[in-house]
Amino acid sequence: MKHAALALALWMGAFAGACGSATPPPETAADKDDFDGETLPSEDKATADSESAKPAKAEKSEKTAEAGEGEGEAPAKSTPVQTTKFEADLKKIGINLKKIPELEKLPTAQKKKVMPLLQKALGYDTCEGCHAEGDFKKETRDMKVAREMWRNFVVPLRSESGGTLFCDSCHAGNEHVLNRKDKKALQAFMEEEYQNKLARANKEDMECGTCHGDAMETKIIEKLWNIPK
Ligand code: HEC
Ligand code: HEC
Ligand code: HEC
Repeated sequence: MKHAALALALWMGAFAGACGSATPPPETAADKDDFDGETLPSEDKATADSESAKPAKAEKSEKTAEAGEGEGEAPAKSTPVQTTKFEADLKKIGINLKKIPELEKLPTAQKKKVMPLLQKALGYDTCEGCHAEGDFKKETRDMKVAREMWRNFVVPLRSESGGTLFCDSCHAGNEHVLNRKDKKALQAFMEEEYQNKLARANKEDMECGTCHGDAMETKIIEKLWNIPK
């Protein structure tokens, strides 16, 4: 696991160097009043370059390019929390919704049945939204993110009413759900949707720090979960 992550980081680093897209865009005046003063994650920096380097994404990039929208494009408005459409499916698969196990701990048969739900929840055209072509065992960045999203959100969190919180509760059929351009709107979104409309399975209060940690790390995927871009 550790070795795979390191290898991936080295590989991605090497590529970023090769295509010269490692430098984030310069900070603009609008970013200066962020609540943490950090630069924007460079979501629109050479997305096409870095994405086309990922074999798992090549097909999808082509498709979205045809449809006229770039891969990795942020929605105009952040996606509100919705009730999961997959509660019955999860129950049928045999997952105990009162005490959802981590993804990697599911028996293989259940794991495989859950896969199409992940694909639908994220709105991917094929399994290659996360997997490398022809190799479901090959570790990809999206698999790492998916596993951590499951561990940190699906396992310990619930809907406002105490129901299941699944991938589609936040993703609603989209990979990208946040508009990060307007920081004020994003913070209001986080408070109204992720803090006020979600709950914890252990009934403790939902706070920004429940997901962002005590030090309020905004780059959850990269810094808290240690998954490099
Ligand atoms: C949102 C990301 C995501 C999507 C989409 C996805 N998978 Fe997966 N898949 C994972 C992760 C993460 C694992 C590893 C789970 C673990 O840690 O055991 C996995 C594991 C698997 C495995 C087990 C591999 C092994 O180790 O034996 C199979 C088979 C698989 N997926 C098939 C599929 C199929 C078929 C689809 C499309 C219907 C699909 N997956 C879509 C994330 C995804
Ligand atoms: C509490 C809400 C929430 C839940 C539940 C959730 N996600 Fe996410 N996910 C997010 C947010 C927010 C992002 C960042 C999206 C953005 O940048 O627009 C994200 C990003 C992702 C990404 C893209 C990461 C990247 O940067 O390329 C993947 C893949 C993903 N989630 C998979 C999943 C899967 C699989 C599940 C269910 C196991 C899941 N998510 C559950 C909120 C959630
Ligand atoms: C249910 C989990 C959850 C809660 C609760 C939550 N957030 Fe977030 N937040 C996320 C995720 C996931 C992301 C995307 C992280 C990433 O890209 O690594 C995010 C991103 C952000 C970002 C954007 C960071 C960037 O650089 O683009 C800000 C700002 C933010 N959250 C503020 C807040 C505030 C303020 C609160 C409390 C009112 C809060 N969040 C509560 C999950 C949560």
